[in-house]
Amino acid sequence: MKPNEPSRTALVVARQRAAHQVPDRGSILYDPFATKILREDKKEVLQFAKQHPLASIGRLFTAARSRIAEDAFSSAFEKGNRQIVILGAGLDTFALRHPHGAPGIRIYEVDHAATQAWKLERLAEAQIAVPPWLVFVPVDFERDDVGEKLAAAGFQQNSPAFFTWLGVVPYLTPEAIGGTLDYMSSIPNSEVVFDYAEPPEALSGELRQIETERMKQLEKIDERLVSRFEPAAIAAILRAHGFCAVEDIDFQAIASRFGGAVQGVATGQTGLHVVHAKH
Ligand SMILES: C[S@@+](CC[C@H](N)C(=O)[O-])C[C@H]1O[C@@H](n2cnc3c(N)ncnc32)[C@H](O)[C@@H]1O
Repeated sequence: MKPNEPSRTALVVARQRAAHQVPDRGSILYDPFATKILREDKKEVLQFAKQHPLASIGRLFTAARSRIAEDAFSSAFEKGNRQIVILGAGLDTFALRHPHGAPGIRIYEVDHAATQAWKLERLAEAQIAVPPWLVFVPVDFERDDVGEKLAAAGFQQNSPAFFTWLGVVPYLTPEAIGGTLDYMSSIPNSEVVFDYAEPPEALSGELRQIETERMKQLEKIDERLVSRFEPAAIAAILRAHGFCAVEDIDFQAIASRFGGAVQGVATGQTGLHVVHAKH
């Protein structure tokens, strides 16, 4: 990422979430703040949704990974988990619309300082109040000790925690991924939902070509995809970090569960996966 600049991919993902509210009516992830936080109108959002023939895949995957994470957090909450850490939060709005409202809940948003500062500006401009249960923790996963930063922000290291890490792992080096997994596994009863991408060879014809173009665009904005994994490698890494219950949901499973909710969804082998792992 460019130092001192907010993440451009966070903006793209936020637009996908907002676009999901228009043609798809938020049927996978209903998010009344998705458009508001962008300060774009429905017409602009629709234009974005139609810009690319395969934008439907982005809407489906972005909405589905958040839905899977939020459903899993609801179950953890039922069991008493009151801490959620949103790693690489970007313009994620869960903290604004979380339905649990229980006293004692704390939501920590961890992100690059520049992306957080930009988010706070957007919230202020959109006149969206920061809820009292939300704590912002600026962290660079490549340089900082995430545990130290979270503890300094009031995170309880001896209480269970639920982590989401959506759209972030592909941008991190193996060292930063390993360090963050080490930390999560040190928290009792921790759970994590994250997504990853397989090497491009796993992608079907047209999608592989589009992915090559996307990689070039990402290089230009200094947000390179640096980590890709085979499913067996991810399972082995998680097991090595002591995560025992690992559910790996591939794109086919996501498309068959949620695809009907996305208008004109394109098909193909995207090599994208969402993982829910428990320690
Ligand atoms: C594609 S965006 C996803 C945002 C959000 N999770 C969502 O789904 O809307 C990637 C996010 O990861 C963050 N990120 C990337 N590399 C990072 C790093 N080394 N340290 C901290 N945050 C990082 C970016 O600032 C950005 O918010």
